[in-house]
Amino acid sequence: MNKVTHQFITEEYEGIEFLNVPDAELLIRARLFTANAYAPYSNFKVAAVAKLVDGQIVKGVNQENAAYPVCICAERVLLSTAAMLHPNVGIETMAISYLNENGSSETPISPCGVCRQSLVEYQQRTNQVIRLILSGQKGKVFIVENVESLLPLSFSNKSMM
Ligand code: THU
Repeated sequence: MNKVTHQFITEEYEGIEFLNVPDAELLIRARLFTANAYAPYSNFKVAAVAKLVDGQIVKGVNQENAAYPVCICAERVLLSTAAMLHPNVGIETMAISYLNENGSSETPISPCGVCRQSLVEYQQRTNQVIRLILSGQKGKVFIVENVESLLPLSFSNKSMM
């Protein structure tokens, strides 16, 4: 029997002022775009803004529903939009921010399990590594260089070959 450790590195910054200009601009867009979320049930507004490899910008916000399981996270709204409008154009960087109307918005959040699965598939289907910039309305910023690191031992089409 072997014990195997799976680990990954995140970059952690004390604030947006320590990011390079393109990353800071993308994060600012995500922070502002939380205003467009439809989150009347949780009051937890999430926005994802991505820069594609060709420089185009794609956005998503969470879409809630009175039937709670129908809710869609911002990240998957973005991925569906990108796939529809810009098929085969990879995502270079995605900034994810949130506005918690019931509490603070100072600690980065990271994608839920369903979104991690979707992000990994998107990375694989476009053959383009996706970077994530994670932060609330202010405070620390985490950068994840490759979404696959968020889902070790993930199930993918490779598993079915
Ligand atoms: N949510 C997202 O949109 N993205 C995340 O990464 C985490 C959670 C949404 C789903 C739901 O509308 C609300 O945030 C509270 O869970």
